[in-house]
This record gives sequence, structure tokens and C-alpha cells, in this order.
Amino acid sequence: MLTARMTPTEFGAVARLIEMQNANPATQCLHSGEHASEIEAVFQKQSTLHYVIARQDGEIVGALGCEVEDGRGYLQGPFVDGADFTATATALWQALHHQIATPDRCDAFLNVQNRRGAAFYLSLGFKRGQGAQVYVLPAAALPALDGPPASRFTPQCAEGVRALHALAFPDSPLAIEAFMAPDDDDHRLFVCGDSQRCVGYVAASINDSPREGYIDLLAVDAAVRNQGYGQRLLLTAAHWLINEKGMPQVGLTVRDMRADARRLYQRCGFQLLYTGVGYSRENGAGRRSDRQG
Ligand SMILES: CC(C)(COP(=O)(O)OP(=O)(O)OC[C@H]1O[C@@H](n2cnc3c(N)ncnc32)[C@H](O)[C@@H]1OP(=O)(O)O)[C@@H](O)C(=O)NCCC(=O)NCCS
Repeated sequence: MLTARMTPTEFGAVARLIEMQNANPATQCLHSGEHASEIEAVFQKQSTLHYVIARQDGEIVGALGCEVEDGRGYLQGPFVDGADFTATATALWQALHHQIATPDRCDAFLNVQNRRGAAFYLSLGFKRGQGAQVYVLPAAALPALDGPPASRFTPQCAEGVRALHALAFPDSPLAIEAFMAPDDDDHRLFVCGDSQRCVGYVAASINDSPREGYIDLLAVDAAVRNQGYGQRLLLTAAHWLINEKGMPQVGLTVRDMRADARRLYQRCGFQLLYTGVGYSRENGAGRRSDRQG
């Protein structure tokens, strides 16, 4: 078996492999795309996404990707078809570590039914993390906003949003700063409250693969929960994504422990699409030897 970095001539074939593997819960890796054309477009565009492939008898039989962001590596795959899974996945893992510097931490997010992927990551010393659900709201199911929408973020609310974000998501790698840029058309932040106090915010963006609007972050100050702020924020963002940006659907991911949020999403028409499990590994100095393969 031969492994190598994916080149543009292989984009189409690898995208089709991923589409096929992700259509089956037993081989699905979440957040790595569903439609070959969209996956291929992401390959063309995204310089932070690195893929390696495995070939057997000239045919592509496996692929493994890693999107590197702020020292963290978000893994996609391993996707293997027509070859021994463990041997191919292991070869891909070693090839990936020859291609990119080992990130401080690696994360994978697999469909809960993807047992071979789970066993593979556990064998590499990854720890099983929390379960999480992927929900989707089709444009046709968008509920009306009964009441005034939440306000668009202005710099006066920046400190309030940062404080709330630190409280609500103390371990989130997702920086709120990216959503505060005034001229970014694909990211938007809405807030509830006034210049004195921000009581809630929602961060939304446009996803390329799948092409959809996405709710990245939503939080309401614990002192004012159960008064409708969460719903107002969520629906304001969903209306912006569907009505203004023309998105066919809105997606989001919520962890098992956030039962309040899940109830809110279901009440607003979001439908459960997938159930997944996260796997992560901190790559301390002792792990650097992986690079030698
Ligand atoms: C999830 C979260 C944003 C919800 O915010 P919220 O402002 O409490 O949401 P809402 O007020 O719209 O809805 C919450 C409940 O209050 C109820 N409610 C809303 N307005 C009400 C009112 N005027 N009187 C009585 N109940 C009311 C809703 O029916 C809902 O009830 P339910 O939980 O039984 O479905 C909030 O709990 C939070 O910030 N959690 C921590 C961060 C988090 O989990 N974020 C989501 C990550 S994916």
C-alpha cells in the first residue's frame, strides 16, 4: 500500500469516497461533508485542510484529513473502502504525521455507530469525550419570530459578550472575536440587552460543506434564563441565515449535557440528524515520536 499527500487531480475521487463513507452511519465521520461536489469545493478553497490518501493496486482505498486551526487538529476520517481498515488507517495516520506538524491537540467527531473508527482512535490513545447531537432546521420549517428580533452586535457590547462567552463556554476553542468583525458577510453576532449589560448572544455563520447556515454559539446569562431570550436569539439568527442569506437549512451541534439547549432547539423545529461522539488526544512531548511513523 502506498500513501501520499492528496493532490488536486485526486480531489474528485477522494470527495466521492468521503460522500459514500459518510452516507453510512457505521463509517461516518461527522463534520467532514456529505456531498461530493461540496467536499471537492472545500478541497479547492481551504488551505488549512490537509489530506493524505492510500492507494492499493493503483486505486484510492483510503483518506484521512486534518484541519489545523489555532494549534488544534480536527480530524476527518479515516475513510477506508476496499482494503483492510486497521492497516490502512494506521498507514494514513503515519503519513499524515509526516505531512503536518503535530497539533497540540487532535479531535475527531464520529457517528456513534462508527465503531471501527472509535476503536482506531482509542488504540492511538485518544480519550472518548462527550456525546453530541447534530440538528438541522429545514428552511420550510422556520417558525415565525413572534416579537422583536435580537439586535445586531455593536462594539459597545463587546466586553459584555466576551464576559458571557467566558462563563458559558469556558473550554470552547471557538473564539468569539471572529464574529465581531463588522465587515464579515459570512459571520454574524446578535445580542440581547443594552450597552450596560449583554444578557445573551448568538453567533451564526455560513458553512460550505454541507452548504447551510450554522449556529456556532448561543448563550443567555443564567440570571435571565427561561424568559424567552434564547428563543429570540436563535430565531433571529435562523431568519438571517434563511431569509437574508438564502440558506436551505440551519445546522448546529449540541453536547449531551446541554439538555436546556436541546429542548429549545426541538421546540423551534430543529430535527435530530446524527448522534456523535468526540475523541481527543493531547499531544505532549512524548507523542512527538509519532512523526517518525
Ligand atoms: C440554552 C439557553 C441559551 C436557553 O436560553 P433561555 O433564554 O433560557 O431560553 P428560553 O427562555 O427561550 O427557553 C427556555 C425555557 O423557558 C421557557 N420560557 C420562555 N419564556 C418564558 C416565559 N415568559 N415564562 C415562562 N417560561 C418561559 C421556554 O418555554 C423554555 O422551556 P423548556 O426548557 O421547558 O423548553 C441557556 O440555557 C444557556 O445559555 N445555556 C448555557 C449555554 C448553552 O448550553 N448553549 C447552547 C450550546 S449548544
